[in-house]
Amino acid sequence: MAGGLIGKGTANGKQYPGKLTFRVFVTCMVAAFGGLIFGYDLGISGGVTSMDPFLKKFFPDVYAKEMNMKPSDNQYCRFDSQILTLFTSSLYLAALVASLCASSITRIFGRRLTMLSGGILFLAGAGFNAFAQKVWMLIVGRMLLGFGIGCANQSVPIYVSEVAPYKYRGALNMMFQLAITIGIFVANVLNYFFAKMKNGEGWHYSLGFAAVPAVMIIIGAIFLPDSPSSLIERGKDEKAKQELIKIRGTSDVDEEFKDLVEASQSSMAVKHPWATLLKRHYRPQLVMAIAIPFFQQLTGMNVITFYAPVLFRTIGFGSNASLMSSMITGGFNALATFVSIFTVDKVGRRKLFLEGGAQMFICQIVITAAIASKFGVDGNPGMLPIWYAFFVVGFICIYVMGFAWSWGPLGWLVPSEIFPLEVRSAAQSINVSVNMIFTFAIAQVFTSMLCHMKFGLFIFFACFVLVMSGFIYKFLPETKGVPIEEMSVVWQNHSYWKKFVKSASEEANAKVDNSC
Ligand code: BGC
Repeated sequence: MAGGLIGKGTANGKQYPGKLTFRVFVTCMVAAFGGLIFGYDLGISGGVTSMDPFLKKFFPDVYAKEMNMKPSDNQYCRFDSQILTLFTSSLYLAALVASLCASSITRIFGRRLTMLSGGILFLAGAGFNAFAQKVWMLIVGRMLLGFGIGCANQSVPIYVSEVAPYKYRGALNMMFQLAITIGIFVANVLNYFFAKMKNGEGWHYSLGFAAVPAVMIIIGAIFLPDSPSSLIERGKDEKAKQELIKIRGTSDVDEEFKDLVEASQSSMAVKHPWATLLKRHYRPQLVMAIAIPFFQQLTGMNVITFYAPVLFRTIGFGSNASLMSSMITGGFNALATFVSIFTVDKVGRRKLFLEGGAQMFICQIVITAAIASKFGVDGNPGMLPIWYAFFVVGFICIYVMGFAWSWGPLGWLVPSEIFPLEVRSAAQSINVSVNMIFTFAIAQVFTSMLCHMKFGLFIFFACFVLVMSGFIYKFLPETKGVPIEEMSVVWQNHSYWKKFVKSASEEANAKVDNSC
């Protein structure tokens, strides 16, 4: 899924010939549409659920509660409705199911067909949502979008990693996260403008606009060829070689082609990647495949991504100001991602993780104090001064930037570079699934948590940020500049993981055992 760019790197210092051809460039554009689709969905629902005409039509109870709200009422519970959050969260449950199925479709029918199915499902979902008349149509629409995202996110990053020249893989991985943040930002901007439509029909456009990236990905998938690795996997070696010549822009591809065939054979020799992954010497990879996406979601970032407008309304902003503020936080999210793109290969992963964690922690404490001081436990703030709004939005922006150059992109990059080929597909599926489960959970329980935990909600996430920073400090070795094939060395040299990971010769023996 997002960012699962996986590849060979410089195998034993090998340099394959080939340049960044137009064909590869077009492929990356399609990948960007995959990221945009995901980001657009992450960013759109919060704004739509804060539009009064939308609430009135689909969630009249929430709307009535909202209308009858007096300043002296408990503001924390203003949007507490399980059916309202289901509108947001259902998508991620569907994406989870789809990404599990999509891993087989990707293997058997190729990456392209999976992308095409993703685009079609997504288009259908956008249509259902844009013309929805009843809540069930909204939920069905969201589920179709989720199936689409599951397919696209499983296939697009793998496809890109397979066609991109190895030199550009790291950067392309981060481009995918950048596309996600741009998708979120575009959704925030469109919500802001569509909410202003006098006839109250803006939500149709917000939801229907998702059709645009869907059409792009469909067109892309129709015209793009399948990746050489996928063709080899399906026994079409000659076609694979021709394709490799085209995408590399040179006929000097023999060495890369030979390596692709070998890689495919050795990964096919591992009959049970799931069982293999459970073996003791893959423990660091298994732990990271679960812990990294889990912690990424427990930063609390998606409370902002999904519910910034709801949150801003809860703390006293008007509908317009709420949408404007989430547009600002969305903009900071996209811009700050560049910091990661430009620094990740220089300062390394660990420093970014730790700095981002410290920044998020401090902001969460400040935001908690700000909300606690005005809203207390009864959720009744009285009149809020204007400086207060600037103060809260400012700290939310600093928090978002901390995430955008640490756990956002690295939450996808690090897992994708630490999985060895023989367990890559299984580990990547776990990574994606854990991410989707917790994205779903946060989306589903946020309004209820806010209602019950009040300002303590931010302390809850702050505690997790502390734990995850400790985890990175103690357990994650630096992977900057380490070729993927040599990654096992970082575990062998690590003070804790070395007892799990065998030396290279022992590992080679283990692989032989596996293939028997
Ligand atoms: C995360 C999403 C999040 C987004 C925010 C991604 O890396 O997986 O859950 O909404 O970043 O920019």
